[in-house]
Amino acid sequence: MPDIKKGMLRKVPVIFELGCEGREGFALPEAEPLTGEPLPDRFRRAAPPLLPRLDEVSVVRHYTQLSHWNHAIELGSYPLGSCTMKYNPKINEITAALPGFTRVHPLQCEEHLQGSLELLYVLEDSLKRLTGFERITLQPLAGANGEFTGLSLIKKAIEAKGEGATRRKILIPDTAHGTNPASVVLNGFEPVSIETGAEGHLLPEAVVPHLGPELAGIMVTNPNTLGIYEASLKDIAAMVHGAGGYVYMDGANFNAIMGKVRPADIGVDTMHLNLHKTFSTPHGGGGPGAGPVGMTAELARFAPVPVVDRRDDGTFTLVTGSDDSMGKLHPFFGNFGVLVRACTYILELGEEGLHEVTRRAVLNARYLRKRLEEYLDLPYQVETLHEAVFSDKTLKKETGISTMDIAKRLLDFGFHPPTVYFPLIVSGAFMAEPTETESKEDIDDFVAAVATVIGEARENPDMVHNAPHNTGVGRLDEAFAARKKILRYTPAETDPVD
Ligand SMILES: Cc1ncc(COP(=O)(O)O)c(C=O)c1O
Repeated sequence: MPDIKKGMLRKVPVIFELGCEGREGFALPEAEPLTGEPLPDRFRRAAPPLLPRLDEVSVVRHYTQLSHWNHAIELGSYPLGSCTMKYNPKINEITAALPGFTRVHPLQCEEHLQGSLELLYVLEDSLKRLTGFERITLQPLAGANGEFTGLSLIKKAIEAKGEGATRRKILIPDTAHGTNPASVVLNGFEPVSIETGAEGHLLPEAVVPHLGPELAGIMVTNPNTLGIYEASLKDIAAMVHGAGGYVYMDGANFNAIMGKVRPADIGVDTMHLNLHKTFSTPHGGGGPGAGPVGMTAELARFAPVPVVDRRDDGTFTLVTGSDDSMGKLHPFFGNFGVLVRACTYILELGEEGLHEVTRRAVLNARYLRKRLEEYLDLPYQVETLHEAVFSDKTLKKETGISTMDIAKRLLDFGFHPPTVYFPLIVSGAFMAEPTETESKEDIDDFVAAVATVIGEARENPDMVHNAPHNTGVGRLDEAFAARKKILRYTPAETDPVD
């Protein structure tokens, strides 16, 4: 049984409430008297700013202490389903920090950029081999940005055939990540939700009624967010192509099929990969991440620029212009530091190593599923790959304790909670994904913590209902925090900032 973390955290005032007048953490030379015209009154403060007065050690301790309030994969398991929080090896950081990568400027001449261009070429080539696509753009900055890109390629292809005004519908299964319909709408398409079958995967029958001249395509996450492989995707792709549409695969869960399936081989036209979820780079939702997009030969002419090509003499060149290109997504080469990390991971593991990643990720997830089945409902009793989705249905009925309560109580045991209430088609979803980087002991510890919480739910529900007890802050009103952000400190005696 893992120990509850004791006494590690205590309430800490905000930095504005620390220190005292006259205390300083720096020493600057006396300022020279100002010369020239003074600043006009309208630009001058009426009163000095409210700055905290602290010495250096207090500042460092304050922020270090706050940093310990966060859970991190380097502190313990992070079984966040669908988000694939795998450990990122430190070698990635070493290569990303090499001066040959950090000190170049993207506007330097090609001759000086050969090393960086070769890295981009090698990464694209490796991803092409794993996915089977003709071309991969490394430009998109996150999975969601990759979705936007892939759908833009489909849009360009449809417009090139003169069907832009009619082909506007994109089918999306009801298990999809929220970014899928958002990317569809951003491209001016219309999302059409289709139901997942009773066995947790998409059935061709759900697609048939939509085949027709209005169909632009289908967007399928595979394996889906229930952790189930979409076995009918090949047949569905043939049906969609037959109707003149395109197939987008959300490849966020590629970690579960790497080395087993090449999406291009089953009829996928375009797909994104989340480098953070499969190739061990830091996660940056929409921000400092990378979501490369693969595409077929037909779509490749619409790819964003620049792309890197190899000349006959073995040197590398940037192709920056193309009449049909969808344009630029990023000022230079994409999020280069992240791409270096992913390339390092790929070269470090090699082809066989990457296939082993998938085998272990699936084995770990199946082991976790088997162990947790004892404590929670498993709504879909079919074979799953990288993650397992449970429901709180029986537990809630019998004890009043919900998925959210379990998630909060797990924090007291030092575990990041799994993903909760997603996918939406599972009531009280509890979605756990261990990834290949967790050992059997780590998984057993997590199961032991869940088992303890479920035991408490029956014997001492208040303990679970009021959790967490041992974190920096207790249970927060999450809707309030999201809707009414307080981003500025206001001293206690004045009204809070709206
Ligand atoms: C299935 C799926 N699709 C898309 C995304 C969006 O990716 P990102 O957060 O990199 O934008 C995620 C996020 O992890 C995901 O799980």
